[in-house]
Amino acid sequence: MFPRLASLALATVVVACNDDGGQPSIEPLFPADYSSRYTEVRPCMSSGDHDLHNVRILVDDAAHDPYVDRTAPFPVGAVVLKEEYDFGDTTCSGPTLGWTVMQRLADGSSLDTLDWEWQQVDPDRVVVSADEPRCVSCHTGCGVPPDGYEGTCAILP
Ligand code: HEC
Repeated sequence: MFPRLASLALATVVVACNDDGGQPSIEPLFPADYSSRYTEVRPCMSSGDHDLHNVRILVDDAAHDPYVDRTAPFPVGAVVLKEEYDFGDTTCSGPTLGWTVMQRLADGSSLDTLDWEWQQVDPDRVVVSADEPRCVSCHTGCGVPPDGYEGTCAILP
């Protein structure tokens, strides 16, 4: 009797996490109004590694100094966001194709993902993938400053 009740309770929780019976919904790691709260740290430029998209890189306040100075560690929760635009949109002014985003986890808590949480998010703010191995494996190869820092890859202007 008791185990059956427990599994019923669990099923209820799982259903409650689903929007429409499909995949469990995951929230994007960045807020919808990020453009008024985040700071651009690298302007629009082409990315040979992100599908030849043009990209802008933005950070929240917590990520700003570690990202720009590359000396202090990223605090837990810090967010680094990439806005992605079409190959032909060299000023990043048209509609965005979506975002890739990283959020810092505690040191040593997730060595498989370089202590970051990773997401790809579509223009409707639907999380398309989370912690994809290809994100982690490519970012693992980014090296040390100035070629990358703590799992981030951009060479800053
Ligand atoms: C083939 C290699 C490669 C893959 C795969 C890749 N990235 Fe990147 N990523 C880069 C490089 C290189 C940069 C530096 C900016 C640039 O020039 O594109 C970057 C930049 C970023 C940035 C901006 C912060 C920074 O400086 O690194 C974020 C956020 C990001 N990637 C997230 C992701 C996510 C999420 C995925 C998987 C969905 C992913 N990346 C897959 C190579 C890669």
